Amino acid sequence: MGCGGVLIVLLIAVAGARALIHYELMWPLANWTDAQKHCRKTFFDLVSLDRAELVDDFLGSPFFKKGAENADSPSTWEAAWIGLSRRHGSQEWVWSDTGDKLSNKNLEIRIPDEDKANNLCVVVNKFGDFYAKDCAEPFPFFCYHHIWRNYLVLTNMTWSHALSYCRERNGDMSSLLMDNQLQVARQRIQAAGRGDLAWIALRYVRRYWLWMNGDALEFQAWAGGQRPQCPAVGHYCGAVSSTMGHWVNLDCEQKLPFFCKC
Ligand SMILES: *[C@@H]1O[C@H](CO)[C@@H](O)[C@H](O)[C@H]1NC(C)=O
Ligand SMILES: *[C@@H]1O[C@H](CO)[C@@H](O)[C@H](O)[C@H]1NC(C)=O
Repeated sequence: MGCGGVLIVLLIAVAGARALIHYELMWPLANWTDAQKHCRKTFFDLVSLDRAELVDDFLGSPFFKKGAENADSPSTWEAAWIGLSRRHGSQEWVWSDTGDKLSNKNLEIRIPDEDKANNLCVVVNKFGDFYAKDCAEPFPFFCYHHIWRNYLVLTNMTWSHALSYCRERNGDMSSLLMDNQLQVARQRIQAAGRGDLAWIALRYVRRYWLWMNGDALEFQAWAGGQRPQCPAVGHYCGAVSSTMGHWVNLDCEQKLPFFCKC
């Protein structure tokens, strides 16, 4: 079960960003601010292309002429927002997902009416050209999220045994990096019908809660809205509760199902 062994892992590595990012063209039309809100709620963010290989990956997707040789012609849209803006009179282009400034030199943005709009946001057309538009204009928009490759293991194990299990299968324990992933995790636990809880990669180490797979702990969903500052002795491991929809800290020796990722 699970990752399907080394072969799949290698294939993913060869396929690069392509296999790991899901793009979606969203309707109806929205101004840039609303588009961003919508993407953050239902996906991860507006499409951000702060590395050259991401531009190639995105423009190679079936939405574009270049990637659509064998697909249905994406003729129903002309231009759509991506996550790049220059707002409130600023001269710097900024990415929606990281807040980083544009440094990708191969992304050329055409600015039709340079000095008219204070708030400029970027659309891409189906030929892969990038244009600045007034952020208040309505366009469809591109959202993205990272594909969450994970699976629920239904054998009850202590937290440490669960971690070893995942790592022995070329993977790691799963983290939950956004609400979307939390909701998917809840559904999987419920569907399995083996109790309410599953271990995730959360661990209390030297007074800090960390994702032990190296992910940054930004999105948080603790019971009571606060990370446990002084967990009871031994209660140093994190699980997700499907009925409550939040994280709890439990005795690491407790045996539970758990989430691994590839
Ligand atoms: C975006 O549209 C919403 C309504 O859909 C409106 O409330 C909001 O003011 C608009 N924002 C901008 C920056 O145009
Ligand atoms: C595993 O643990 C859960 C929660 O404690 C429990 O509901 C379930 O029956 C256990 N499964 C097995 C096979 O022991």
